[in-house]
Order: sequence, then structure tokens, then C-alpha cells
Amino acid sequence: MKAVMVCSEGPDETLALGEMLAKWLRPGDTVNLVGDLGVGKTVLVKGIATGLGIDPATVTSPTFALIHEYTGSVPLYHFDAYRLKRPEEWEDLGYEEYLRGQGISVVEWGDLVQVYLPPQHLEIEIKRVTETKRQIWFRAVGQHFDLVIDELGRELSHAGLGDRYCYGNR
Ligand SMILES: Nc1ncnc2c1ncn2[C@@H]1O[C@H](COP(=O)(O)OP(=O)(O)OP(=O)(O)O)[C@@H](O)[C@H]1O
Ligand SMILES: [Mg+2]
Repeated sequence: MKAVMVCSEGPDETLALGEMLAKWLRPGDTVNLVGDLGVGKTVLVKGIATGLGIDPATVTSPTFALIHEYTGSVPLYHFDAYRLKRPEEWEDLGYEEYLRGQGISVVEWGDLVQVYLPPQHLEIEIKRVTETKRQIWFRAVGQHFDLVIDELGRELSHAGLGDRYCYGNR
């Protein structure tokens, strides 16, 4: 499985990473965003939105609605599975039509609905290291996303950020 990791040293860097990633996403792609409460998943989605020409200020956690739709150069479907009580709720949403559609689907807490995710997707795991530092892994689940990892890795290396661990306790 291809993967690349990076250390984000603040919310602005996570936003920039999302924006960088958006360039390599294509209609129909699914992203699974994994990480604890308040770690920065929605911040990353705001970055992806920016990269798709969507005003990041309009992007908020779809915690109660379960899904928010935004119109950009490509539609962005932003899910949050955290508050799902029963798998049927996910089915009632019509998730399949979204995931099979011509938008980019980003699922916060996608691990909770792992069985419903397409076999090929991009997994992004965010871990809290300090108050402001986040270790972020991008993993290609399925070869379709190998190219995304390659391109992202190249871009991060050029920026001197490729495969970097977060150091320090602040
Ligand atoms: N490096 C960083 N990257 C992202 N967010 C950061 C970083 N450092 C600090 N933060 C802060 O962490 C918080 C992340 O909040 P956010 O809503 O994105 O989390 P979340 O993972 O979506 O949470 P939830 O699981 O509740 O949806 C924000 O307040 C943000 O400013
Ligand atoms: Mg969130």
C-alpha cells in the first residue's frame, strides 16, 4: 500500500495540505478521514474545498445533517459518520448514489462505515502530537490512489515536507 506522511505544524498547514490534495482528486473519488474528535478532519476538508473553488467559510462539520453538499469545480459531498446510530441511517441517506456519483466524497469517521466505503479509496489518518502539531498519513487503499500518493509525495518533497515526523512536545 502506497503511503506518504507529513507533519502539519498548525491549522494553516493542514488547510494548505487539503488544497494541495484537491488537485489530484477526481470525480467519483472517496476519501476516508480518520482521527480523534477535534483533531482537524474538518480543517482538512476546508482545505480540499478551497482547492475545488468552494469558500471554506461555508464548510462546517455535518455532524447533525450527516452530509453537506457544496458546489465547486467538482461537487463536494462531505459526510460525518460519527453520529450515526444505526447503519440503516447511512443507507437512508442514499450514500451509494453519492459515492458512485460524479462528486468527490469525503467521509469524516469513515471507519465507522468502513463496510460501505468503495474498495478503492484514499485514507487519511490524523494524529494529535501536540496542541498544534498533527502527524498526517495519506494511504492509497487500492491502486487507483497510488498516483495520488506519488504526486502528493513529490509535491511535499519539493516543499521540503515529504515523509516528515512531528518532533517535540511543543
Ligand atoms: N495542525 C493542525 N491541523 C488542524 N487543526 C489544528 C491544528 N492545530 C490545531 N488545530 C485545531 O484543532 C481543531 C480541529 O477541529 P476540527 O473541527 O477540524 O476537528 P475534527 O477532527 O473535524 O473534529 P470532529 O471529530 O469533532 O468532527 C481546530 O480548532 C484547529 O484550529
Ligand atoms: Mg469534523
